[in-house]
Amino acid sequence: MAALVERDDAVVQGLLDKLRNPATSLPAKYRILFSLRGIAGPAAHAAMLEGLKDPSALFRHEVAYCLGQRQDPAAVATLKRILKDDCEHPMVRHEAGEALGAIGTEECLAPLREHLQDPCPEVAHTCQLALQRIEHFAAAAAAQQAAEEADANASESRYYSVDPTPAAPASIPLPQLRASLLDEQEAIFQRYRAMFALRNRGGDEAVQALGASFSSASSALLKHEVAYVLGQMQDAHAVATLKRVLEDPAENPMVRHEAAEAMGAIAEPECIELLKQYTKDPEPIVADSCIVALDMLEFEHSGGFQYADDGGQPAAAPPAEVTASA
Ligand SMILES: [Fe+2]
Ligand SMILES: [Fe+2]
Repeated sequence: MAALVERDDAVVQGLLDKLRNPATSLPAKYRILFSLRGIAGPAAHAAMLEGLKDPSALFRHEVAYCLGQRQDPAAVATLKRILKDDCEHPMVRHEAGEALGAIGTEECLAPLREHLQDPCPEVAHTCQLALQRIEHFAAAAAAQQAAEEADANASESRYYSVDPTPAAPASIPLPQLRASLLDEQEAIFQRYRAMFALRNRGGDEAVQALGASFSSASSALLKHEVAYVLGQMQDAHAVATLKRVLEDPAENPMVRHEAAEAMGAIAEPECIELLKQYTKDPEPIVADSCIVALDMLEFEHSGGFQYADDGGQPAAAPPAEVTASA
């Protein structure tokens, strides 16, 4: 992720006041959150934790995601509590588990292990992946081949996200990556690795392989991540597939949410039309995702520098990639 910038505590306090104000709209809160995510220090961290009190599950899941992307071990206790809370929305618990995997310190292991068989499959699979991610990097580091692999992964990826698994090696041919991704018998960790390798590869054939998973995969978790990476790729070839996902009321809201955000990232005229239409979806997670995606688009079209609330100060660092959560 992009480096954190220093800001006066007064700026952070101003953002926090806006966040707490019940009159602040959801898109405005997203901008505040994306600002806080990029600010170093405990004040910004504490302000982000306030966001977890928000009534919107969509917003709370985004806060959990941002805590993971910051990779600040100070968030571990809070993330553990969210993961354990079975009254919390599964999408928020999923992000908490994934964030623990991204932070990856020793203290993240026990809570992840406790939820390997969670009754909610999205949470259980997230914890399995997160644990394997931590183990993968630990084993690789121990074997010293780590640095090379991490370097190779980093250099072949144009994306700034901290991904829930490493990508499969770039040397694997595309048809083999496609076969792993679509193989329902394959371990989800390997399928994720194939997915990120396809994203890094890019191009029409990779987009097609990723899109094929929506009709064949039974895991909502896998499909939501595929929708997310299609948004990262910003490839217009994915629009027809993402449209079908958003339009399917039987699809898991977590998957439809990522499809909406991906369409916002691709920003073709038909994406915008569809997003407008689905701001009225009966599922609040989907409707709110469309509202936020449209706000991000409007911001970009207005020549905005970085999708964030600058707290009244110009950004001091290059813009972070504008991506919402996976
Ligand atoms: Fe998300
Ligand atoms: Fe996710």
